[in-house]
Amino acid sequence: VSSFGPSCKEAGSGFNADKGLFRSTACCPPPSKYVKEEDYVFPQPGETRIRQPLHSLSPEYIEKFRYGIQQMRDLPDDDPRSFKNQAKVHCAYCNGSYTQNGQQLQIHNSWLFFPFHRYYLYFFERILGHFVDDKTFGLPYWNWDNPDGMVIPNFVLEEKQSDTNPNPLYDLFREKKHIKPGVMIDLDFTGTDRIVGKYYSQKDVNDTTMNRQMMRNAFDAKSFFGGRYVAGSAPIANADNLVGAIEAGCHTAVHRWVGDSEKPNHEDMGNFYSAGYDPLFYLHHSNVDRMWTLWKDMEVVGHKEPEGEDWLNASYVFFDENQKPVRVYNRDCVNLDNLKYKYLHSSIDSWKDRKP
Ligand code: C2O
Repeated sequence: VSSFGPSCKEAGSGFNADKGLFRSTACCPPPSKYVKEEDYVFPQPGETRIRQPLHSLSPEYIEKFRYGIQQMRDLPDDDPRSFKNQAKVHCAYCNGSYTQNGQQLQIHNSWLFFPFHRYYLYFFERILGHFVDDKTFGLPYWNWDNPDGMVIPNFVLEEKQSDTNPNPLYDLFREKKHIKPGVMIDLDFTGTDRIVGKYYSQKDVNDTTMNRQMMRNAFDAKSFFGGRYVAGSAPIANADNLVGAIEAGCHTAVHRWVGDSEKPNHEDMGNFYSAGYDPLFYLHHSNVDRMWTLWKDMEVVGHKEPEGEDWLNASYVFFDENQKPVRVYNRDCVNLDNLKYKYLHSSIDSWKDRKP
């Protein structure tokens, strides 16, 4: 049995509650008018959503994106599509609100990481697309592996877009040292700011990090996706005790780099329970998901998804753009033609052949 039914209670783990919390740990979805979830029916045929690099969005696209996020922010708390409730979905699957067979669910640190987040973003993107009323609207990706995308664009950072208008892409709980105009991401960040020397730049560090985590240390399903995690395994550690190279590496580095180190749980991005409250989360994970497609497209022997029923049949429940609870399975997210979105090309030359 490897399907994860949502039996939710307001529980939680993985944060320092006694040191103060900046977000709610009540992460269960609001009561639904639907009694039970149904298997998701993929829309066919349909238009394809295009995910574009964050740093090259047109002003019109930025405006549309902001509008959609604002619409989600404005939804009432009993609407599962609200920005807040979407943030809670992440918390529920990560900080022990959801249990199955009495065991707390944790979709990180194992082979569930990539498929879970692919689906999470897929529904987030469809909700967004619903509110901007555009069937081709895709979630942008924070293209941190490309030199042009290593600095976060100002329109994501500024508190207000005008004197009277707040910026829906802004988040209050971010690292003040990093989240300001012109600072380059450190994809190898481990908690201490790097002093870049005169023989290498931050870009060099980022390029070698990408090469290591996409090529040298990610040569088969296990090293890329992470170890087996099935019903009955320990809640955090997976059976193989192996976290995928990207998840353990640049993915986590970006979370830590963005989260506020002055907050007890490094809210928002630095802890699972709060990460979804920062719009950067979705932009970050869009690029993480893109890594899966790039890795797969390399046509290197060994670059394949995990095999076997335990992985293929693992499933999650999300709310779709019509507030309906739906169940989705790993096996259906491998082929992007099924999900109807794709990534606009962005060069990977700076790290592809980079030697450490
Ligand atoms: Cu579910 Cu980047 O974490």
